[in-house]
Amino acid sequence: MGVAGSGKTTIGGMLARELDLPFYDADDFHPPANIARMGQGMPLDDDDRAPWLELLAVNIRAWEAGGGAVVACSALKEQYRVTLRSVRDIVWIFLDGSDSLILERLRWRSGHFMPAALLDSQFAVLEIPPYAIRVDVSARPEEIVREILTKLKVMHTHSEFGLIGLGVMGTSLALNLAEKGVLVSVYNRHVAGKEEGIAAAVVGNNPEMRSLKGFDNLSDFIQSLARPRKVMMMIYSGAVDQQLEELVPILEPGDIVIDGGNSHYKDTTRRSRWLAGKDLLYLGAGISGGEEGARKGPAIMAGGSERAYVLVARYLDLIAAKDQAGEPCSAYIGPEGSGHFVKMVHNGIEYAEMQLLAETYYLMRYLLKMPPADIADVLAEWASGGLDSYLLEITIDILRKEEDGELLLDKILDQAEQKGTGGSSAGAALEYGVPYGPLSEAVMVRALSAIRSERLEAARLYGAEPPYFDNEPQRWLPKLKNAYQATRIINHEIGFNLIRKASSQHQWETDLARIASVWTNGCIIRSALMEDLARILRSEESILDSPSVVPEMKSRREDFADVVALALKQGLPVPVMSAALNYFLGCISSDSPANLIQAQRDYFGAHTYRRKDKPADQYYHTLWKTL
Ligand code: 6PG
Repeated sequence: MGVAGSGKTTIGGMLARELDLPFYDADDFHPPANIARMGQGMPLDDDDRAPWLELLAVNIRAWEAGGGAVVACSALKEQYRVTLRSVRDIVWIFLDGSDSLILERLRWRSGHFMPAALLDSQFAVLEIPPYAIRVDVSARPEEIVREILTKLKVMHTHSEFGLIGLGVMGTSLALNLAEKGVLVSVYNRHVAGKEEGIAAAVVGNNPEMRSLKGFDNLSDFIQSLARPRKVMMMIYSGAVDQQLEELVPILEPGDIVIDGGNSHYKDTTRRSRWLAGKDLLYLGAGISGGEEGARKGPAIMAGGSERAYVLVARYLDLIAAKDQAGEPCSAYIGPEGSGHFVKMVHNGIEYAEMQLLAETYYLMRYLLKMPPADIADVLAEWASGGLDSYLLEITIDILRKEEDGELLLDKILDQAEQKGTGGSSAGAALEYGVPYGPLSEAVMVRALSAIRSERLEAARLYGAEPPYFDNEPQRWLPKLKNAYQATRIINHEIGFNLIRKASSQHQWETDLARIASVWTNGCIIRSALMEDLARILRSEESILDSPSVVPEMKSRREDFADVVALALKQGLPVPVMSAALNYFLGCISSDSPANLIQAQRDYFGAHTYRRKDKPADQYYHTLWKTL
């Protein structure tokens, strides 16, 4: 690939002879209209190119099936290469030359339909693929071909991508990459008696993945990778520092390390600074979607070295889920720990959405006295009526899962566990001063559930079996649906607020609409609502103030309050729903009682206060009581 005059036909033909493969020139596949256009000195636009590229893609597939080929094709833009890349294994070779050198060559060339005047337009649209083998075309053709052959050999004996840690997520990601035709080396440590032969087993269990190589020796694994090496760690966040200590001495300047786990964003910032000092490029990439997502297409939120991102974007885009527009659900969020920050907030929203569903189920079951199968049916109606979300879908499945003829859910101990990302997001909210009530409540209520023996004792003391009574599902279900929807808006509003605040404080310049698009597929919080939010955030600053949200929240407000009030009165805790309602009411109160807080602070501690009737930057102190 390369602009006209870069030598594609000459070099491609010679290379094909060396490799004993057929050679094809993409120009021979242009429809006559395109040739006529170029002959008249008119550049082709994307619409002209589309049928040509599609025809080529079909042919490339046939050539590949027949054992491979060398193809000369300008393929100037990434979108053209993506069209052609529907095939497994294209090795791109970019013939790189300065405009003056190529112009000189074109002047000498005759009998070709591409006039030299079109060269400028070609350079203008050229997007150099960072993943290509790049060769300088100022050398003699024989030398160029020799250089390409050497680089091809390195590529075929070395893997393009390395993955450390073959737990559920690591293995799924490795298989996802291998399935896309990426040459992947995988490594898992050897721990005698505990973790033995893991990498070999992953390779052995997947014989159809021919591009997978397994290692349990770290240095052999690193040596198996083409440079600059691209190594992704999928390991427990507590083990990342130790893994890096082992990696740093055996990596070389320019190599890239990606932490694909759930590390704390501050650790990622610290690590990216440390590695930058060693000329290594670091990315902290939050990856969401669990085992299935990792295998079939997760959402990826990468932060850190932008240069590293450019070099690995191709791989991340290949394995990521796709949004409705067909764009990969993978994005560069910003520098340092920003990617892990965004993943942490994702998990905060995840916690709140899970708890909201738990509360909704709880009210249906114990307030409205509905059998689980009926609850599943109602939730399925909600889902098909525009409220679809991954978490709603799995909740419906859970409510229908039986074991020995009984609902499995009823046998599960009601003590929620957590690995910490929800708590970290609540901590970050405190640090950045962002109101985060419902999302913090989702963390706290897990902690409350965990102290089961204390709960049992208190329940005994207070006779906590609440006075549940049958509350007419037909009357309350529509109200509950409104409360559910209103709470979800608030949960998301709060999550995005936290990202907005951190981004402005750190100058990450994070694009919230892009994050919402990344979250529309692959991740745990994907939902129909997220599609709407992506649209809203493309033009609006705030979700809650958006002209499409205001009337919805207004119309749901009364039902929202009715549901929370009834639940609390009947003794059923709804911490996320009620915190969301409190947040909402707090947001829409132009006069809050915070003036009393300020007065109290000034009273006992002379902390001063500002006044409504005076300029906002002036502070006052009152002697509230003579001592
Ligand atoms: C995801 C999940 C994933 C993991 C959580 C669970 O986005 O794929 O969030 O990262 O399942 O860490 O967290 P808890 O164990 O804290 O519930």
